[in-house]
Amino acid sequence: MSLTDTHSSLKKILKDNIRSVKDFPKKGIVYKDITPLLNDRYLLELTSRMLAEPFRGHHIDYVAGLESRGFLFGTNLAQDLHAGFIPIRKPKKLPAETVSVEYKLEYGTDILEVHTDSINPGDNVLIHDDLVATGGSSMAATKLIEKLGGNIVGYSFVMEIEILNGRENLDQTIPFHSILSV
Ligand code: PRP
Ligand code: MG
Repeated sequence: MSLTDTHSSLKKILKDNIRSVKDFPKKGIVYKDITPLLNDRYLLELTSRMLAEPFRGHHIDYVAGLESRGFLFGTNLAQDLHAGFIPIRKPKKLPAETVSVEYKLEYGTDILEVHTDSINPGDNVLIHDDLVATGGSSMAATKLIEKLGGNIVGYSFVMEIEILNGRENLDQTIPFHSILSV
């Protein structure tokens, strides 16, 4: 067995442990649940390693994780890459001065916020979330970090929802890494 085969087998193990829950939180939605990857100590370690792997040795000052599921692996990833962690939160959750970005959903709009003093201009930031679907929230996170003068040096996801092709909606010049396509 080659290293590539081993890598593919490990990815398959992760994929097989993502739980699909039909009609949650609304009818017609299939929720991709990563809690089984957190629950099992070996899968937790494997997922964490596979997230960090492509960015090891890169100059990353901060990992910015998107509320709420982007917090689950986000701080872990930051620690692994010797970076700080920045929470990107839903409106009115952060206590100090924030900047906001409004972005489009299928129906209506949503807002994400970050603390103004999270970074200094020129800092290198890796954006992390559990999954990219349409890419709307990751693009909003990109705009927030750029408003503060940060450089986005990568996108990191556990999975991308292939059919929605969210990666097409992100900045194509920035390295994109998703462990899995589902
Ligand atoms: C989900 C998921 C991503 C986002 C992806 O979060 O965790 O953050 O949607 O969708 P997009 O690529 O189309 O923007 P959700 O808003 O359900 O909130 P949660 O993380 O708090 O569960
Ligand atoms: Mg989310």
